[in-house]
Amino acid sequence: MTSPIPHVHLYGQRRQRLAAQLGEGGIAIVPTAPERLRNRDSEYLFRFDSYFYYLTGFAEPRAWLVLTAEGRSILFCQPKDLEREIWDGYRLGPAAAPAALGVDEAYPVDELDQRLPALLENRRTVWWPFATHPGLEGRIDGWLQRVRARVRYGVLCPDAQRDLCSLLDEMRLIKDAHELDLMRRAARISAQAHVRAMQVCAQRLRAGDEVREYHLDAELLHTFRRHGSQHPAYGSIVAAGANACVLHYRADAAPVRAGELVLIDAGCELDGYASDITRTFPADGRFRPAQRRLYDIVLAAQQAAIDATRPGARFTDAHDAAVRVLTEGMLEVGLLDRRKVGSVDDAIEQRAYFRFYMHRTGHWLGLDVHDVGSYVEPSDIGHASQRRDPLSGEIITNRPARILRPGMVLTIEPGLYVRPADDVPRDYWNIGIRIEDDAIVTDTGCELITRDVPVQADAIEALMRA
Ligand code: GLY
Ligand code: MN
Ligand code: MN
Repeated sequence: MTSPIPHVHLYGQRRQRLAAQLGEGGIAIVPTAPERLRNRDSEYLFRFDSYFYYLTGFAEPRAWLVLTAEGRSILFCQPKDLEREIWDGYRLGPAAAPAALGVDEAYPVDELDQRLPALLENRRTVWWPFATHPGLEGRIDGWLQRVRARVRYGVLCPDAQRDLCSLLDEMRLIKDAHELDLMRRAARISAQAHVRAMQVCAQRLRAGDEVREYHLDAELLHTFRRHGSQHPAYGSIVAAGANACVLHYRADAAPVRAGELVLIDAGCELDGYASDITRTFPADGRFRPAQRRLYDIVLAAQQAAIDATRPGARFTDAHDAAVRVLTEGMLEVGLLDRRKVGSVDDAIEQRAYFRFYMHRTGHWLGLDVHDVGSYVEPSDIGHASQRRDPLSGEIITNRPARILRPGMVLTIEPGLYVRPADDVPRDYWNIGIRIEDDAIVTDTGCELITRDVPVQADAIEALMRA
């Protein structure tokens, strides 16, 4: 029983690219995620650290990577232990790790404290991921103290520590062909899951069966696992009726009723990579007129955002395009009153739309659902400007947003959320709509990888009749 790592050469290439950025005398330390107790001796499902996995493809807990600027990779991992393997499963072990993972050396993780000081001796800069692993800074301090204790023997102690995230985030922001392939596969599985949830919802209601949010959640999970996804990429949102107006609602037990909308925001993780899809559909397969009006506004906003997602555009262009279409729609259907908020430009300037659209239109997607990568264009960091937020009065510092480049992956997810209020037409009360797709920036525009689940209102109705 072995655990071969597919595409092992890719991880080696990533380590070499990182090593080349560590500078003379640099060394990097990357732990995987800790195991976490749930209660007594039961643990939460282990999920590796994304940085560690990106550099190793190694999914076991209790593992560390040390990488030198010269490109030497040293892995610390769990030792072979027949008794523990009977209880917890197969371990690769240090003897097999170099061949399996392409690292130069591997040692039992229990030797970490003994070996790290020697590895840090005569190094100049220690790179590690800042503010991601509680306790890591203290451990590095301890190793450095041990190095410093030997300076009188002529040993040099590193005199700089730098944030490894700054290098890895930039690498992870641009996905390679292997990553894009995995993300397309994750997206297809999630799209199928949404199709199944929509169809089961309509079928059960037609048959006179009760439908609750957890029934639809079960259909999502069924499809994810059936196709090899390890788990959802984040807590699935299945929100019936007014629950859709709670942005971080979780699939719970509320009844799903004919005549109401259902908002599902769910995506699977496949071999470490996330997908993130939202669809909003009528529980019984037929949009009511007020629902359809708002739905088509959100859909048009999403299309405007998609059109703005292309190389050379700024990350915020999609949001600005969506906000314009949403605000026009809010004025048209009377969610916003022209006499109070003025023109579309005024309503945007004053952020009047914020009452019904209070989140951003997207985020990077990758190993993490809200993936790493700066949202500011690195070469423009010095070009800050300030403005006063019209709603909060706070002074906000803006920097030019990231310029999109091929290989970046992001979500495009506008929405509208209408809570009951005296100045809001009653037809729209408690309607919450979001439409979310995942996009790869290409050479000419973007590729939507989640469109195996329909998005046009007519197509959703047709699917739910089938
Ligand atoms: N499901 C989390 C998000 O859409 O950002
Ligand atoms: Mn989502
Ligand atoms: Mn999202």
